[in-house]
Amino acid sequence: MSEPGQTSANATTHFGFEDVPVSEKSARVRDVFASVADSYDLMNDLMSLGVHRAWKAAFVNRIAFRPDMRFLDLAGGTGDIAFRIREKARPGAAITVCDINPEMLRVGKARAINKGILGPDSGLRWVCGDAEAIPSPDSSYDVYTIAFGLRNVTNIPAALAEARRVLRPGGQFFCLEFSEVVLPVLDDIYDRYSFSVLPKLGRYVARDEAAYRYLAESIRKFPNQDKLAELMREAGLEQVQVQNLSGGIAAIHSARRI
Ligand SMILES: C[S@@+](CC[C@H](N)C(=O)[O-])C[C@H]1O[C@@H](n2cnc3c(N)ncnc32)[C@H](O)[C@@H]1O
Repeated sequence: MSEPGQTSANATTHFGFEDVPVSEKSARVRDVFASVADSYDLMNDLMSLGVHRAWKAAFVNRIAFRPDMRFLDLAGGTGDIAFRIREKARPGAAITVCDINPEMLRVGKARAINKGILGPDSGLRWVCGDAEAIPSPDSSYDVYTIAFGLRNVTNIPAALAEARRVLRPGGQFFCLEFSEVVLPVLDDIYDRYSFSVLPKLGRYVARDEAAYRYLAESIRKFPNQDKLAELMREAGLEQVQVQNLSGGIAAIHSARRI
């Protein structure tokens, strides 16, 4: 298995608990989210009993809003974070939702239409792109957010370096991601829930058990709070802070590009 950032010809990486060639991971992740796109939002509510809404609210509350900010929500999927940012930013604020998966963006745009907020005046822009090669010039954004997305990218250091590149100096970085449970009793219950209940929910609701097994496995493979903070510093992000949510089931990592 290769370390993050390593890309030799035979390099492998993890896709859940499976080792796959580095060149295949992105397509495997794309297939997962293409398969679950239509049931994605319902599944989030069911599997977290709605708690993901509180986490996302806490996440967006961490942004220091000022007028005329430009926002990038990476791995923005069906738009949950972008819609929340839009409620708190000035009307018409420029918010780019970037995701590698056209199916997730399709669902996001449909949700925007349902909310009556599509079109040039909405400020929302939906862009298909990779977190490791963001289709935006240097220093384009004041705020970069990524929620439950970083776990899915192939090369986390490359994605963090890209985040830094597209942020203007002084810009704010925020990552919301599943993390390492820090309460011993919760740890055990959460483990049993993740590996027995979650895949079954996936089978009956999203008709894709494997996608939700991947979710549980990918969470266990993702760097814990300290390791992610270290990777962020190595990528040149500064003032790194960590906030655990629900005993570390999720965590918010924040930083600045100085
Ligand atoms: C769990 S969903 C999160 C969606 C949304 N941010 C939310 O919190 O509801 C993960 C998203 O990451 C996207 N994704 C995975 N790998 C990506 C990459 N390399 N670049 C951009 N988006 C990616 C997937 O297509 C999917 O929409």
